[in-house]
Amino acid sequence: MATLPTLPQFIGASAATREILQEIECAARSDAKVLITGESGVGKEVVAQLIHHKSRRQQANLVAINCAGIPDTLLASELFGHMRGSFTDAYRDKQGWLEQAHRGTIFMDEIGEMSLQMQALLLRFLESGEIQRVGSDRASTVVDVRIIAATNRRLVDQIAATEFRSDLFYRLNVIHIEIPPLRARRDDIPAFLDHFLQQFSESYRVVVPRLSDEALSQLTSAPWPGNVRQLRNVLERALLLSDHSTLGPADVADVSSSAIPPAAAASGRITLAEAERRHIEAVLREERGAVASAAEVLGLSRSALYERIKKHGIVAAKGTET
Ligand SMILES: Nc1ncnc2c1ncn2[C@@H]1O[C@H](COP(=O)(O)OP(=O)(O)O)[C@@H](O)[C@H]1O
Ligand SMILES: [Mg+2]
Repeated sequence: MATLPTLPQFIGASAATREILQEIECAARSDAKVLITGESGVGKEVVAQLIHHKSRRQQANLVAINCAGIPDTLLASELFGHMRGSFTDAYRDKQGWLEQAHRGTIFMDEIGEMSLQMQALLLRFLESGEIQRVGSDRASTVVDVRIIAATNRRLVDQIAATEFRSDLFYRLNVIHIEIPPLRARRDDIPAFLDHFLQQFSESYRVVVPRLSDEALSQLTSAPWPGNVRQLRNVLERALLLSDHSTLGPADVADVSSSAIPPAAAASGRITLAEAERRHIEAVLREERGAVASAAEVLGLSRSALYERIKKHGIVAAKGTET
């Protein structure tokens, strides 16, 4: 039997977090569809991982897809798989995401970005529970998949604007878990500080630093628009760049604002493609070359980001070079 991946931890001590932990337990006991909402970086993916790993589906796959980055032309074949020769680039039979998640869970992130075509495909699957690989002439097969969806958009507004189908919304929104922004649950911040400082000190093999009182009050009162992800990045950077055993306010200054790519600010007469290239480079630098996290920040699937990296001829930047 395959060894189980270690259970992700959901850190926090606030009343809101305790409630979320209960909702996770409750969701893990059933197969009901879950809709997780909240701003970017609040921990939606962590919640989805926990539900899967605590559920009876834990031995099967958790397949995570980002609905924002999938071109419509690839969609059906990615979701349902395809048979060799069914289109030009189909060199071999390929399992789709839904099949890979059979007996397990599929985590569909950023469902608010789904095209109407993808919404229709997904709805068709939800109604029948059956899939048929693109180009297959065999009868459809039933797959047993639990669906967890997430979004940082207000779907009700999108429904009103006819960007999101209400019938799909009602199907997905069976158990709803709303994760408040970090600034609305500051009681969690000390726990995050302990956790991330400990974790990064371990991975970088340094002594766990102390936080000066001033640094601590700065960290607990910051607005954190990027939520837990931003807090985590600030701490990691502080740990990497500082050589003191006590971190002061300058070490934990929120440097993320300086990471807003100049391209976004430069109103200069550059093409959209050039702006895109600069922005991707800036985010890659910010994420120290980690394509997976850069893709997440950019709201793209990893493969979509790779495509753009290739298109723009961007050379992967590793390390904290400037
Ligand atoms: N409660 C939490 N406990 C531990 N780590 C968390 C928690 N919430 C968020 N994180 C961390 O913050 C980062 C962003 O979380 P993620 O689940 O990707 O957010 P979202 O999907 O809402 O954008 C990840 O590195 C994640 O591990
Ligand atoms: Mg996410």
